[in-house]
Amino acid sequence: MDLVGVVYMSRSTHPTVPLDLDRLLMDSRSFNSQRGVTGVLLFGGNQFIQYIEGLPADIEHVYGRIRRSALHSDLVELEQRRIPQRLFRHWFMGFRDAPRSVIQQLSQEQWTRETPRAEDHSAASPGMRQLMRFLDSVSTDER
Ligand SMILES: Cc1cc2nc3c(=O)[nH]c(=O)nc-3n(C[C@H](O)[C@H](O)[C@H](O)COP(=O)(O)O)c2cc1C
Repeated sequence: MDLVGVVYMSRSTHPTVPLDLDRLLMDSRSFNSQRGVTGVLLFGGNQFIQYIEGLPADIEHVYGRIRRSALHSDLVELEQRRIPQRLFRHWFMGFRDAPRSVIQQLSQEQWTRETPRAEDHSAASPGMRQLMRFLDSVSTDER
């Protein structure tokens, strides 16, 4: 079955709209679990980096919700590709606070942009490897 992974970064609109992260995460997890979308959200220095993975139709739906959200702006897509398997089977939306420097570093990494039909199932991008290294350094729980 085809799976798609998307990474983007954006800026919190806080303090114009006070950011309620708990509510955002509760709402996201509830919706993602209905759609079978998994992934992780990093927040640091007022910026988000989020990775979502799932079936193309489900990703389209969730990504649409994300893009419409008034809680952030300046969304830039970093990666969109087909993936051979999920990286976060157990996280409907993991969350980690990240130092500004990590967000900065990730934003400058090399990511993969593919046309949706590309057959390439090759290894993770340097950006994705860096993201996984950061998560490994701050958490021990099962993804
Ligand atoms: C950084 C960020 C990440 C989000 N991630 C998800 C997500 O993974 N799944 C989802 O269904 N919605 C996601 N959303 C949308 C929020 O759930 C939604 O914006 C929130 O519940 C508030 O609704 P509103 O934007 O219509 O006010 C995200 C929004 C932001 C700002």
